[in-house]
Amino acid sequence: KNTNKKLYTNFRLLMIENNIHSIFKEKFDTKPLLAKSPGRINLIGEHTDYNDGFVLPAAIDKYIYFAIAKNDTDTCNVYSYDFREFVSFPITQKEKINKGWANYLIGIINEFQKHGKEIKGFDLVFGGNIPIGAGLSSSAALETGLAFVLNLIFDLNLDTLELIKLSQKADNNFVGVNCGIMDQFAAMKGKSNHVIKLDCRNLEYEYLPFEAKDYQLLLCNSNVKHNLVSSEYNKRRKQCEEGVKILSNKYQGIKKLRDVTLENLISCKEELGIDVFNKCSYVVEENQRLLNACNELKSNDLTSFGELMYQTHKGLREKYEVSCKELDFLVDLTKNFPEIPGSRMMGGGFGGCSINLIRKDFKQKFIQLTLKEYKAKFGIDAEFYDINIVDGTGIVE
Ligand code: GLA
Repeated sequence: KNTNKKLYTNFRLLMIENNIHSIFKEKFDTKPLLAKSPGRINLIGEHTDYNDGFVLPAAIDKYIYFAIAKNDTDTCNVYSYDFREFVSFPITQKEKINKGWANYLIGIINEFQKHGKEIKGFDLVFGGNIPIGAGLSSSAALETGLAFVLNLIFDLNLDTLELIKLSQKADNNFVGVNCGIMDQFAAMKGKSNHVIKLDCRNLEYEYLPFEAKDYQLLLCNSNVKHNLVSSEYNKRRKQCEEGVKILSNKYQGIKKLRDVTLENLISCKEELGIDVFNKCSYVVEENQRLLNACNELKSNDLTSFGELMYQTHKGLREKYEVSCKELDFLVDLTKNFPEIPGSRMMGGGFGGCSINLIRKDFKQKFIQLTLKEYKAKFGIDAEFYDINIVDGTGIVE
């Protein structure tokens, strides 16, 4: 059954890849470069990246495919396969345009130009199967994918790390989300069957094998997208910075929440105020949780690992306040089952997916049950994604 499912997934991906390629040939009649860039999950370590903390993401087998070629003009012609929309803009475009997806691309081009890299016109068709707004970072896949292909076709000679940073900047400067580096890093540096333990302070990283044996990861898409995502995200980030500012007046050497201990926080509780205190203490605890989780993973103790996932959810819900009732419901539901050692909301929050560690032989039953209960409660169909951990952005042969 599992082999069938995998074959089916691969078949669907191949179909998308073929469609992207043939639409390109139809529209532009040249030979394109083909590449793909994956979505990501994050096992633990949420809202820690922009605090110079640790994260534990992995790239997954949901992709955006790119077919691209230079066109020897100063115009970029882009077709979005998923939106069935076509856009042309000059390579000098500096303003946002009224197609949300195109702004990620323009952001990337602008960042290359800021690097003093010369980009000329190109023709591009892209699309894939990373659900949008599901917390799987389709936007980072789009950014890193475009950065990767432009770097190749225009011989720009940036290395992977530079492309990652450039993609993050496109999000920060052009799109306007002050995101950290996790998503772009995971998309580019993903490694099949491994999670990436990334230190967002110095970008040192280590690949840890993910071997869950009788268990697997299962994503559950709440199919809600609350409109708060970018405004609340930027607000959380500010609150963390506010905390750092207060703490650094009292303690030397504090540059980010990474440098802060719980004792530091407790000693400044009054100055911080309860709201900022809660935000900061969540982050400090989450960093420690991640380090513990990596040890559990290394010793293959999935029960303890799962328990830490639940704790993360509690922190995100009660202290960091980025969950929502739909995600809380999905996570709470899993607590009834010993077959599920851990579950939590994943990504920026306010909707999107939960990530569940679940015993393989319990999956079908759990899916049926959740579909039913979730629909009864919210009138929404949840969706489930059975994912595999894969390599990062690369060429499609
Ligand atoms: C979004 C951001 C990331 C990270 C997560 C929360 O996905 O893009 O940089 O901050 O939220 O962990």
